[in-house]
Amino acid sequence: MAIRLGDVAPDFTAETSQGTLNFHDYLGDGWGILFSHPADFTPVCTTELGTAAKFKAEFEKRNVKMIALSVDGTASHAEWIKDINETQNTVVNFPIIADEDRKVSDLYDMIHPNANDTLTVRSVFIVGPDKKVKLTLTYPASTGRNFYELLRVVDSLQLTANHKVATPANWEHGEKVVVSPAIPTVEAKEIFSRGVEEIKPYLRLTPDPTT
Ligand code: BEZ
Repeated sequence: MAIRLGDVAPDFTAETSQGTLNFHDYLGDGWGILFSHPADFTPVCTTELGTAAKFKAEFEKRNVKMIALSVDGTASHAEWIKDINETQNTVVNFPIIADEDRKVSDLYDMIHPNANDTLTVRSVFIVGPDKKVKLTLTYPASTGRNFYELLRVVDSLQLTANHKVATPANWEHGEKVVVSPAIPTVEAKEIFSRGVEEIKPYLRLTPDPTT
């Protein structure tokens, strides 16, 4: 069954390019991002993993551990990582699950038979410190993901987890945020001491409380 927001991210133990690991143990008390790739030695995936490696420091700053998945084995991953490092001018520095038996792909419903009955699509799962799924995304094999967008979503998830706000369209860290509709304006003005701008009774803006 498809994984929905708020579900506990299914736990698993798997072989990876960095040895055997247990998913929940690997995440510890922090956040996680699990993303799947159709197969090793494919061009779009090669660029994605190179980009992901370059973004690792930004995810770490946000206490997010990265883990990728592809349906090939560890020996294949090791050879492919050499190519990724060479062609993308980086060092892949997070584990890639070797999901030869499709155990994790099936657990996370990453194979969409009407797209391709053996390869995984480009799924993304962001998991919170409570191990619950906070975001799911599905891209087709032909579209590489935007890692700036994934960081932006993490910023929004972490902000809205701690403050009674939501983030508007195209929001970026530091821009004004939307006051949660559940809070009456009078109360919002007490909570958000830097000001509440009421455009409509249901549309109130306030400065990003983390800046
Ligand atoms: C790729 O990663 O380049 C790719 C994989 C499967 C189908 C199409 C593209």
